[in-house]
Amino acid sequence: MNIVVIGTGYVGLVSGTCFAEMGFNVTCVDKIEDKINKLKENIIPIYEPGLEEMVARNVTAGRITFTTDLAAALKDADIVSIAVGTPTRKLDGYADLTYVFDAAKEIATALDHYAVIVTKSTVPAGTGYKIREIIQRTNPSLEFDIASNPEFLREGNAITDFMEPDRVVCGTESTRAREHMAKLYAPLAKAGAEIIHTDIISSELIKYAANTFLATKVSFINEMADLCEKVGGNITDVAYGMGTDQRIGNKFLQPGPGYGGSCFPKDTTAMVNIGERALSPITIVDAVVKVNRARPHRMVAKIIDAAGGDIEGKKIAFLGLTFKPNTDDVRDSIAILVADELARSGATVVAYDPKGMDEAKEVIGQTVTYATDTDEALQDADVMVLATEWSEFCALSPDTLRSKLKQPIVVDLRNAYDPAAMQQAGFDYISIGRAPVFAYSGEQAALARQTKTA
Ligand code: UGA
Repeated sequence: MNIVVIGTGYVGLVSGTCFAEMGFNVTCVDKIEDKINKLKENIIPIYEPGLEEMVARNVTAGRITFTTDLAAALKDADIVSIAVGTPTRKLDGYADLTYVFDAAKEIATALDHYAVIVTKSTVPAGTGYKIREIIQRTNPSLEFDIASNPEFLREGNAITDFMEPDRVVCGTESTRAREHMAKLYAPLAKAGAEIIHTDIISSELIKYAANTFLATKVSFINEMADLCEKVGGNITDVAYGMGTDQRIGNKFLQPGPGYGGSCFPKDTTAMVNIGERALSPITIVDAVVKVNRARPHRMVAKIIDAAGGDIEGKKIAFLGLTFKPNTDDVRDSIAILVADELARSGATVVAYDPKGMDEAKEVIGQTVTYATDTDEALQDADVMVLATEWSEFCALSPDTLRSKLKQPIVVDLRNAYDPAAMQQAGFDYISIGRAPVFAYSGEQAALARQTKTA
């Protein structure tokens, strides 16, 4: 089968490449000429482990091509997958479907034979039907079917998530389209993946339900962590204790500075809006959004407190700017918000991230100073903040930290270090939902902290 994928963002590029890897002929289309030219030279616009090699392999095998010419790409297409962005609409928080509808119009204008038009972008319930209307209006004689095929890949783990999915969801009400989709995913089904066939609206809802439920888990554990800090529990034990109940599961119970990225913030906001429009409010997700929005400021307060109540003129070594490790994506990254607020509160923030430096510069510019490596960020800092759990940061030993930092104060927003080891090494160590430890105990600690504050 010939597959056309429109949009070469995360979802489009990864799924197009993986379809090629599965043996299909794939054409990836994008309007941005520069991006297509770079892809033709195997320059991948995003950092995603394993993607560059997989693109190169499939280009060499002649299974994947890149173009800006949609009409030419559609010539022999059997399946056309729309994988363009659906950002948050500034006005009301609803998903902005402009790119999706524009793509539908362009497909309708250029397509001259039967194909299945699939939505891979995350879209509100009912969008598939709107796409059908647009296509019918634009090209009344065209024979086509529509399907919804949401994608569940995570950045940083995208290829494995695509090739070894927990499930594949295909929503369509047409038998012919269903057969096409079954054929498309036959290689994954053969390898053991469950293919779930539903109607279009259910499929569209599954994507939002999955993402907002995961975001709910994150906000829930973050509030539990806050409670632990107040009443004296240990969030690691609480998360483990509840997560071992198989009905709950232990994934997505890692407390932190709040969820970020290009999906959860956008999809939770859209879900609230979808519920409001349907007069069926999703109040839980509304609360999840509120908890997450309050989180960056809370993290800043924690850091200021750890620094002795005042960060004016202090050097903060800030490790991690991407919204999570193994990606260069800083979209809606809480780390960025925290770094920016600290700098605006008077601290000298010296930041380092293994992959997201250029991307961060585009968002916060020179508000913070950028170090060339971890050592440079740490050198003579008054406080270190671990904001994103890149493995090279998690592997830093207390001895290394002690030898670089001016003051032994570490605020760990990802619970990457062992409190006992940090205390033994003489640190004030503040993490999330776990009792803080101080270099000195009892009166000595109080005295040391008072001196620092003074
Ligand atoms: C998320 C979903 O996990 C994917 O299934 C989905 O396909 C994707 O959105 C999408 O809709 O395209 P992603 O945004 O790549 O994937 O990142 P996640 O790994 O889900 O992390 C999201 C945020 O939650 C990160 O900021 C992460 O640090 C945070 N998080 C995650 C926690 O704070 N604690 C956890 O236990 C897990």
